[in-house]
Amino acid sequence: MDLPQHVLVVPSPAQGHVKPFMKLAYNLAYHGIKVTFANSEFVEAKILGAMSEADKEQCPIRLVSYSDGLEACPAEERNGARLIASLKEVMPKNLEKLIEQINQSDNKEPITCVIGDLTVGWTLEVARKMGLKQVAVWPAGPASLALALRIPQLIETGVIDENGSTMKNELICLSEEIPVWNSWELTWISPGKPALQKILFDFSLAINQVVKNPIIVLCNTYYELDSSSCAMIPGILPIGPLPAISNLNPCSGSFLSQDSTCLSWLDKQPPNSVIYIAFGSTAMFSQKQFDELALGLELSGHSFLWVVRPNIVTGSSHEHYPDNFLEKIASRGKIVEWAPQEKVLAHSSISCFFSHCGWNSTMEGVSNGVPFLCWPYVWDQFDNKKYICEMWKVGLGLDYDEDGIISRHEIKTKIHNLVTNDGMKMNARKLMEDAKKSVSHGGGSYENFKSLVKYLGA
Ligand code: UDX
Repeated sequence: MDLPQHVLVVPSPAQGHVKPFMKLAYNLAYHGIKVTFANSEFVEAKILGAMSEADKEQCPIRLVSYSDGLEACPAEERNGARLIASLKEVMPKNLEKLIEQINQSDNKEPITCVIGDLTVGWTLEVARKMGLKQVAVWPAGPASLALALRIPQLIETGVIDENGSTMKNELICLSEEIPVWNSWELTWISPGKPALQKILFDFSLAINQVVKNPIIVLCNTYYELDSSSCAMIPGILPIGPLPAISNLNPCSGSFLSQDSTCLSWLDKQPPNSVIYIAFGSTAMFSQKQFDELALGLELSGHSFLWVVRPNIVTGSSHEHYPDNFLEKIASRGKIVEWAPQEKVLAHSSISCFFSHCGWNSTMEGVSNGVPFLCWPYVWDQFDNKKYICEMWKVGLGLDYDEDGIISRHEIKTKIHNLVTNDGMKMNARKLMEDAKKSVSHGGGSYENFKSLVKYLGA
C-alpha cells in the first residue's frame, strides 16, 4: 500500500527565508498536500509570538521545531559567524532526529519529502541520507544562483581565490544578458568580516554539491523576468511571484507583529501619494546615516510610511530622531516597527517603494507594480538593484557622497525624480501585468506550480 505523501518544509532560520517558505507551505497545503514546517526553536517562538490567536487557529500547516544549539546565546549574538557555524555543525543532526521523531509518532503518514533551503544545502543532504524525496528552494533571484553555480569555474580560472575574493579585481560576467558583478558586489562579500565571508562563500560553493544530482530547484520568480539566468540553472522551476498565488495567508511567518494601524492610515491618504520605506530584516544604519534619511524624508515634502525596526541603528538599543523631526512630520508621516508589507504595497495610496532590494521585497514590489528607490546593503541586493534599475527600468539608485553617506539632498532629489517619472511607473505596471499572467491559469509559474503539486502528491 502506498503511504500518503507528507512534506517537511525547512527554511534557513532567517526572516527573509522563513517568510517565503511559509507562503510556499500554505500554497501546498491549500492544494491538498500534507505539510509540516520545521523552524529552529528560536524562530518558532518568534513566529508564534507575532501570530494572533485567530492566525494560529486557521494555520493549515503543522509547525514543529528543533534546536539550533544556541540556547545559551543572547538574542543579539545570534547572527553572523556564530549562528552560521551552528547551522552547519549542530542543526543537521537535530533535523535528522526531528524527522525520526515525527515518523515514529506519525507512522501512518511519515515524512516522504523534504523541501529544503539551498542556502543551507545540508537540509537536502539529510533528506538524501534518509532516503526521502528532495526539492530545493532558492530564496533569492536566479542570477545569484547562477553565480554560485559558476564558483568552481571562477576558482579554476583564477578569477577568485579559495576565500571568494577576486584575485584580479575584474568584472564577473556570466552572459551578455546578465548584469556584471564588481568584485565588491559578489553575494558572499562581507567587508571587514573575513571569517563570515569564508563561511558564506563555503555555503555558496556547497550549493554545487547539492545540484550536481538532478533536483528540482524552486525559485520565487517567473521565467521571463530573467530567462538568461533561469536557463543556466539545471532543474529550475520558477513558481513566482509567490504573493500572487497565495490564496490564504493569515500566518505570515513574520518575526515581529505586523502593525496594521498603518493600513487605516493609508486609507486616509490620496491615491499614489505615499512613499513606503522599508529595508528588510537585517540592514542597519549608523546614527548619522539614519539622521540623513529622516531629514531627506522631511525635505522631500511627501507623505511617507517608514518601517523602523527595533535596533535598526548600529550600537543603539533605541533610535533617536533628529531634533523636532517627529513633530514636523506628524501630519504626513507614519512610522511603524514592522508593517504588513504586502498589503501596504498593494494599497492604492502607495506611490513608490524605498527599499534595500532584498529578493522578497523586490518580488513584492514587482507584483504590485510600484517603482523603486534602491539602497542595497549586502549580498544579492546589489545584483537585485541592477535588475530593477538597468534591466527592468523600474527604479533609481542613490549615490553616496565623498564621506560615504547618502545625503538628505540626494534622497530628496531622487524621490522627486522617481515620483515624477511616468516612464518608470508604466514599466512597473507592465511588469506587474506580466507577473500576474505568469501565475494565472495557463501561465508559466501556474503550470510549474501545478507540476510541483503533482510531483509531491505522486
Ligand atoms: C535577506 C536578504 O536581504 C535578501 O537579499 C535575500 O534575498 C533574502 O534574505 P531580508 O533582508 O529580510 O532578506 O529582505 P527581503 O528578502 O526583502 O525579505 C524581507 C521580508 O520581510 C519580505 O517578505 C517583507 O514582506 C517582510 N517585511 C519587511 C514585512 O513583512 N514587514 C516589514 O515591515 C518589512
